[in-house]
Parts: sequence; C-alpha cells; structure tokens
Amino acid sequence: MHSLIKWFMFGGLLALGGCYYDKEELLYPGACNPGDATAAGYWTDTIEPLILSRCANCHFPGGTGPGDFTQYTNVKAIVDNGSFQQLVFVTKAMPQGGSLSACDLQKLQAWVDAGAPQ
Ligand code: HEC
Repeated sequence: MHSLIKWFMFGGLLALGGCYYDKEELLYPGACNPGDATAAGYWTDTIEPLILSRCANCHFPGGTGPGDFTQYTNVKAIVDNGSFQQLVFVTKAMPQGGSLSACDLQKLQAWVDAGAPQ
C-alpha cells in the first residue's frame, strides 16, 4: 500500500511537467549542474529552450518586447553589448514580470562566461 502511494506521488511530480523542471533545485537542494557550457550542443540543448520559453515568448516579431530572440544572432548581440547581463543578472528586470530559478541563472551565467557560443 505504501509503495502504491509513493507511485502516485511520483506520477504527480511527473505530471507537473514544466513546474517540476523549474523547481528542480528546490526539490534537490544543491543538485543544479549547469554542465559544460563550452561543449557542443550547449546552446541547442540547454540555453535555446530557456530563451525560447522565458524570453522569446515576448521578444519575437510582433511580440510585446523589442527584437527577435528566436534567432541566436540577436541573443548573442545583447550578450555582446552587455544588456543581457545587466537586465538578467544585475537588475533582474528580465524576464519582465517573472524570475528565473537559481539553476537557470547558473546555466545562463556559465554560457555567458564561455562567450555565449552557439
Ligand atoms: C513578459 C514579456 C517579456 C519577457 C518574458 C522578457 N522580456 Fe525583455 N523586454 C520586454 C519589454 C516590454 C521590453 C522593453 C521595455 C523595457 O525595457 O522594459 C524588454 C526589453 C528588453 C531588453 C532591452 C531592449 C533590447 O533589446 O536591448 C533586453 C536586453 C531584454 N528585454 C532581454 C530579455 C531577456 C534576456 C529575457 C529572458 C530572460 C526577457 N527579456 C524576457 C518584455 C519581456
């Protein structure tokens, strides 16, 4: 019986989907592993999904935010001019109306420190 309850709880966690992912480091404190930001595929696998879901949902042509962050070159441009770092790490004004998890911030910081490679 007890193991049945555990399976239900496990299923519940899986069902939370995106929420579960966002709260990863809350469920497992210290479990954040930003990975190797210089490795091939870091942009595609780790950073791009984050930018698409948390930034490009406003920053797309016709969206509420300026620019088009669905394109790597445009995201690279705001890293190169420093506005990304200022707004995401320093003032935390972006994402507007929301906040990034500590783990997502670590991943973004690692990527920026690596020179924001594609
Ligand atoms: C809810 C909508 C929304 C989200 C989500 C959002 N932004 Fe913005 N962003 C805006 C708006 C609106 C502006 C322009 C007004 C302002 O600066 O507050 C802006 C301005 C900016 C600017 C300055 C203008 C420019 O292009 O140089 C940058 C850089 C920026 N956002 C980066 C980001 C990043 C990076 C994320 C994700 C971590 C993000 N934003 C998420 C709405 C959003």
